[in-house]
Amino acid sequence: MINNSDRVVVRGLRDVAAAETRISYVNFNGVLYYLGYNIDDIVGRVTYAEVAYLLVHKRFPNRQELDSFNAELVSAMELPNPIVDSIINTPKHCHPMDVLRTEVSHLGEYDPEGNDFSDAANMRRATRLIAQVPVIVATLHRSRINQPVPKPKAEFGFAKNFLYMFKGIIPEESETDVLHRYMTLHIDHGFNASTFAARVTASTNSDMYSAITSAIGTLKGPLHGGASEKVMEMLDDINLEEEVEEYINGLLDDQKKVMGFGHRIYRAQDPRTKHLRGMVEDLCHRDRTLWLYNKCVKIEEIVYGRKKIYPNVDFYAAVAMDSLGVTKEFFTPFFASSRIAGWVAHVIEQYEDAILLRPESKYVGDFNRPFVPIENR
Ligand code: CMC
Repeated sequence: MINNSDRVVVRGLRDVAAAETRISYVNFNGVLYYLGYNIDDIVGRVTYAEVAYLLVHKRFPNRQELDSFNAELVSAMELPNPIVDSIINTPKHCHPMDVLRTEVSHLGEYDPEGNDFSDAANMRRATRLIAQVPVIVATLHRSRINQPVPKPKAEFGFAKNFLYMFKGIIPEESETDVLHRYMTLHIDHGFNASTFAARVTASTNSDMYSAITSAIGTLKGPLHGGASEKVMEMLDDINLEEEVEEYINGLLDDQKKVMGFGHRIYRAQDPRTKHLRGMVEDLCHRDRTLWLYNKCVKIEEIVYGRKKIYPNVDFYAAVAMDSLGVTKEFFTPFFASSRIAGWVAHVIEQYEDAILLRPESKYVGDFNRPFVPIENR
């Protein structure tokens, strides 16, 4: 044991490795691996379900395994009725992330396997969560615009069904392709704050729903997954391309952060950004996407020029989401709908590691203060 006075505080846990993982590796030189696969080799060549399978099962599925995984996901895309009712009755002013956090916790009450916490039950639970988080998001969106949620179609596969249920119309192939890429790029990212939160909860041997509820609450913050909604607020705030320079310089002069920029680990470009930027470039035949993209490119130039920092995953993701017709308050829920596969994979890995995550603090308060009873204070 180390004495309190000798303890070294690593502020923000910067560079601290809290556990071993095989799931993903974030290299500060701007490379990201999922189970050893460089994302540059797989984005655009895999479906989201394929990568979700990789994370949970630690290997890519063959065709037959992928078909049955998709079928399993699609058949789990039905929420228990009390959850649907609760989503529909949620106060309209609540942020969708608040509803998602509550309803994932609520799902735990209706888990068909109850108190079976065996490895096999946890694998099935993981699959159900991967399927049901997006459905909570779609159900909330549809209920807020007073529209029903269509039933998923077996022939669509998982991600296409998510978009179909969210939008209420059959998505174009190009839109489904954007979603597969977006979800693949958001599926996992080392020991990011929400994954770490999930693992801390799992490390107490608490259940998977509790761990995912912790993760969702953590993802919501604007320094993490909430950044992309803030990016769109900024883009909405800048009316004209000519106003970009003054707006961004104003933020930086006031020592404010530009949302969607900077990263705790990457010292080079975030490897996800080039994929998202490329996806958005391909969609620039749409007037609105081109208008947003032009502003983004200018912001990128100014921020790099002044701070030497790059856009992170949340920057162009905002424009990609917008091109799919997703409104900004649903950006972080789409992030959560993708990251859920990473979270459950990490929760399972944490159960396997079977160690309580419990750091120390360095106490800097007073000692031996004289106690004064309440009537004398
Ligand atoms: N805008 C302006 N300056 C920035 C930004 C930014 N977005 N990010 C970092 N900096 C500056 C910061 O002011 C500091 O400058 P200086 O050395 O002159 O004081 C330097 O860069 C280092 O920043 P830091 O705050 O020590 O970096 P950190 O590792 O503690 O924080 C971060 C990382 C992601 C929280 C931060 O970059 C940030 O707040 N970015 C904006 C929010 C955001 O986009 N979050 C999404 C993160 S990535 C995806 C995800 O997790 O969801």
